[in-house]
Amino acid sequence: MNVLLVGSGGREHALAWKLSQSPLVDTLFAAPGNGGTALLAENVSISDTDTDALVAFAVKNAVGLVVAGPEAPLVAGLSDALAEKGIPCFGPDAFCARLEGSKAFAKDIMRASGVPTADYRVFTDLEAAREHVMNRPLPMVVKADGLAAGKGVVVAKTRVEAAAALEDMMGARIFGAAGDTVVVEDCLIGEEASFLAFCDGKTVVPMPSCQDHKAVGEGDTGPNTGGMGAYSPAPVLPDSEWDRMAKLVIAPIARTLAAKGHPFKGVLYAGLMMTKDGPFVLEYNVRFGDPECQPLLMRLDSDIARIMLAAASGELSPEMVAWSPKTALCVVMAAGGYPGTYPKGMTISGIEEADKADGVKVFVAGAKLEGGTLSTTGGRVLGVTALGDDLAQAQANAYKAVSAVSFDKAYFRRDIGAKGITRTRQ
Ligand code: AMP
Ligand code: GLY
Repeated sequence: MNVLLVGSGGREHALAWKLSQSPLVDTLFAAPGNGGTALLAENVSISDTDTDALVAFAVKNAVGLVVAGPEAPLVAGLSDALAEKGIPCFGPDAFCARLEGSKAFAKDIMRASGVPTADYRVFTDLEAAREHVMNRPLPMVVKADGLAAGKGVVVAKTRVEAAAALEDMMGARIFGAAGDTVVVEDCLIGEEASFLAFCDGKTVVPMPSCQDHKAVGEGDTGPNTGGMGAYSPAPVLPDSEWDRMAKLVIAPIARTLAAKGHPFKGVLYAGLMMTKDGPFVLEYNVRFGDPECQPLLMRLDSDIARIMLAAASGELSPEMVAWSPKTALCVVMAAGGYPGTYPKGMTISGIEEADKADGVKVFVAGAKLEGGTLSTTGGRVLGVTALGDDLAQAQANAYKAVSAVSFDKAYFRRDIGAKGITRTRQ
């Protein structure tokens, strides 16, 4: 079968790496791909949101499975357009993708499904929203409804801050239409964890837990990024909790969506806050996380093409999915300055050397391959990922690999996994 992978980040390199190991995959295409997928797939220069061009390419090249990496193509209706041509897509239809594309929709589906989530109200009127934030307990959280590149959430410690966030989103429209509707919700306290599951519309097969590091600086300081590192499993959510968690936060959503005539096919990702009163869902994503995907796929012992095809066709079963008992940890190497402005075009060296170590894989995120040379094109450049018998060993192996890789102005956090190690020791 020919497979078309859509996207261009570190997650997509990891997906390409795993897909290319499958005996089911003949030719692998990546649109648009990056310098990592270039070595495993045929990169095709089509933007990941050019639905028409992606569908036309899939038809012309007898593609038997399309795998959507990021959310934007799904929100734009890629899965629906492929379905019209009879091409299976790993990734949900546009209706289900609103779980990520609209925070108000996600909250309403959570409430209808009985999933634990912070108390909230949805506003389309600035005046009504202003009045509401004057009467709610602090801190409170103000969220732009639509996709805002991870910047649409403000945890406000004061009413002035909350009102300013409303003003920015609904008045000044700093996120455009994404902020015309806002969600105001209670602030939850705890440690965050990510819980993902493969879904085929009926069957839910959980993945091991993982934890992202969103802040750019060590000790979770500084502005938020797409993610500076991740590891799996997360000690805050041990494997013994998988089934309970799948029943609590994934299965009810899958049931609600199926009852609405939209079976969810792909990865459903619950961003959790582990509070003293139990887990609460902060958000859903309708895809693998980036960089969470990298450590998860390092631990996946099964054929991912088989899992994805089964999920896309409603034939998923738990025995298709097996995991390594090891821990995996990914350190993101970024261009200095990210998530603000950063330089591009730096030459990267040492990846082959790093990859030689057992259980190490360097995934390319923002870099292109030209004439055999890899040079940086993005803020997040590499995801250096390693396995270990436990979190401390995975961390040591990953940082050893990081030290073998270099490019000018490279920046990375030195404390990926530290929180988990502290928790394990407690
Ligand atoms: P979201 O895009 O909804 O996941 O929000 C981004 C980040 O904002 C989360 O990863 C949390 O760190 C924080 N956040 C969102 N909602 C809440 C909440 N209700 N209470 C506390 N922190 C939150
Ligand atoms: N790493 C967070 C995300 O992919 O949404």
